[in-house]
This record gives sequence, structure tokens and C-alpha cells, in this order.
Amino acid sequence: MIYDNHNRPISYLRLAVTDRCNLRCFYCMPEEGIKYLPKHQLLSYEEMERVVRVLARLGVSKVRITGGEPFVRTGLMDFLHRLAEVDGLKDISLTTNGVLTAPHVADLAALGVRAVNLSLDTLDRERFHKITRRDELPAVLKTLDALLEAGIQTKINAVVMDGQNTQDLIPLTEMTRLLPVDVRFIEEMPFNGEGSHYPVLHWTHRRIIEEIRAQYPTLQKLPDPPFSTSANYQIPGHQGTIGVIAAFSRTFCGTCNRIRLTAQGTLKTCLYDNGVLDIRALIRAGASDDELITAFLKAFAHRPANGFEAEQGRDVVTESMSTIGG
Ligand code: GTP
Ligand code: 5AD
Ligand code: SF4
Repeated sequence: MIYDNHNRPISYLRLAVTDRCNLRCFYCMPEEGIKYLPKHQLLSYEEMERVVRVLARLGVSKVRITGGEPFVRTGLMDFLHRLAEVDGLKDISLTTNGVLTAPHVADLAALGVRAVNLSLDTLDRERFHKITRRDELPAVLKTLDALLEAGIQTKINAVVMDGQNTQDLIPLTEMTRLLPVDVRFIEEMPFNGEGSHYPVLHWTHRRIIEEIRAQYPTLQKLPDPPFSTSANYQIPGHQGTIGVIAAFSRTFCGTCNRIRLTAQGTLKTCLYDNGVLDIRALIRAGASDDELITAFLKAFAHRPANGFEAEQGRDVVTESMSTIGG
């Protein structure tokens, strides 16, 4: 296992397989979409598999596939089948918007994917359409059903947006009564691809919990698993759990065990940094595995302590979450 310069283990890779998406969530990208990368600028599946093998040798045991929307890239399932064979990798998970996912759920379960995070900000079809600019709620709910049916542990990610979906806090919480889902409310971050200044956050993790507790006074704190981004809660008698991810307030940086590889092969050692290493350039210049390892180790020895440190010197964020990989 490799530890960074703050003594945090590096065991979790978030791998963005594409920057493309079939939704247009306004907190992530503008209506016309972002300028997508030409295909040759994306890592190929072979290149990604190689990077994962090298990182698994260094102790990375969990890979979360993100995008964009992972299922928009053709050949994803074949790639996942190959990843499932990588030595040392114990956990392959996925974050998806669920529009194209339902037909693949049985295959995901068969190849050993035990957990899927599903982005779903509202249960109201009109609000879904307004937030994502696409009328796809029924497809997403079909995916949710398929995941539960297949016994895949499902977390629902709901970004909480002032004036957009705060009326969904209670209906989404209510889902945990009968369904074994973990509903996680996420503080909105300024990664909408349009050049945002860091805003004042109206819906902090504290306010979200206060709102839920007002409706469910018996809400109980649960112990959080190691390296969890969410603070977890449960309403006694409910099957599922509630979580709050302080993605903007960044309360969990101290135990951050994750690194990111963007779809174009840039290594990020913090969600808020600008990218610290061009892996694609190294690979395409013919670097050996040992050279890749040396470059990774150097980057891991210079990780920022937290997101505030990583964002120093940036006053405007121009990236989209779809390019970063979430
Ligand atoms: P698991 O813990 O593996 O279930 O995944 P996760 O919650 O980290 O991943 P997911 O892709 O579901 O992301 C949920 C939200 O947490 C997204 O809005 C992410 O951007 C945010 N998030 C994930 N990792 C980090 C991080 O390192 N820093 C910050 N600030 N936010 C993060
Ligand atoms: N702020 C917070 N979360 C975001 N996501 C996408 N954009 C943002 C943002 N600006 C979330 C999506 C998805 C996860 C990978 O990132 O809801 O579930
Ligand atoms: Fe697509 Fe996810 Fe961005 Fe929404 S948040 S536009 S689903 S990448």
C-alpha cells in the first residue's frame, strides 16, 4: 500500500471513461453541452487497463468508473469484463445517470459489480426534465428497479440545489422507508463548465440534515465506514439509509484515499486541483511500467492536504464535472 505525504493510503481510483453525457444537468454543463474531446485525445480502453494494472500493483484495490456517462462510450461492458481480471482489484463500482443502464444490470451483477451509484436529483418528472434538460426520469427509475432486483447495493446521489429541488429532500428520504437504498444528498459544487466563481452555499450539509430531522425527529447517526465521503444516518425502522456529502465544505479531506484519472488521461490527486500529471503523454511517449510507477509515486508525494489548498490561486472554475469525472 502506498501512503501520500499526509499519511493517507492511496487505494481508490476514480476512472472517467468518457467526457460525454446524454443528459445536460445545469449544475454540470451548459445546455449546448461542453466541447467534447476528439476520440484520439481520450485514453483507449487498452491504455486505461494498463494504468489500472500499474496502480493495482501499487495497492489500488477499488476502481469507480465515472464519466460523463460511462454507458455512452461503446464497449464499456467488455472493458469491465477485462478489469474484473486485473490482479489485486477487489472492487469495481460505477456511477451512472441510469438512462442507458437498465439493460446492462444483469451483466454487471454477473461480473461482480456489487455497488452502483445512481444520480437522481428529484422524483418529479417535470423537475427532472428542468434540471437535466431531458425527459428521462422513467428510464432512470427502470434502472433503479433493475439494480434492486439484481441485489446490487444502490446509492442515490442527489445534488441539493437552492430553488430547484429542495422540495425533494423529504420524498427522497421517504424512499428509504421501504427500499434498501442509500440516499445521499450532495452539496452543490461550482463545476458547471461555464466558469463559475465559488458561490455562497445556501444548502450546507448541516442545513440538509436539519431539514430532514425536522420531519423525522428520530433520525440517528450511523458510524461511517472508513474513507466515507458521506456522513450517514438512518431513520429507525427504515430499510435504507441517508447520507450527506459535504462536497463543497469538504469535511472529509483528512481521510481522502482517492485519486482521479480524467477521460483524457490526466491524473488529479484532489477533485479541486487542475491535474498534476499527463499520463496519456507518458504512455504515448513509450514510458515503461516502472517509469509510470515513478511518476505516480512522485505525484502521490505531493498531494494537497485538502481541497482549499488544491484550489489556491484559482478564482474561477471553468471545468465541467463531466470532464473531471466527478
Ligand atoms: P463511494 O464512496 O465509493 O460510494 O463513492 P463516492 O460517493 O465517492 O462517489 P460518487 O461518484 O457517487 O460521488 C458522489 C459525490 O461525491 C459527487 O458529487 C462527487 O463529486 C463527490 N465526491 C466524491 N469524491 C470526492 C472528493 O474526493 N472530494 C469532494 N469534494 N467530493 C467528492
Ligand atoms: N456539484 C456536486 N455534485 C455534482 N455532480 C455533478 N456535478 C456536480 C456539482 N456541480 C454529481 C452528480 C453525480 C456525481 C458523480 O457527481 O450528481 O452523481
Ligand atoms: Fe451528465 Fe452527470 Fe453531468 Fe448530469 S451530472 S450532465 S448526468 S455527467
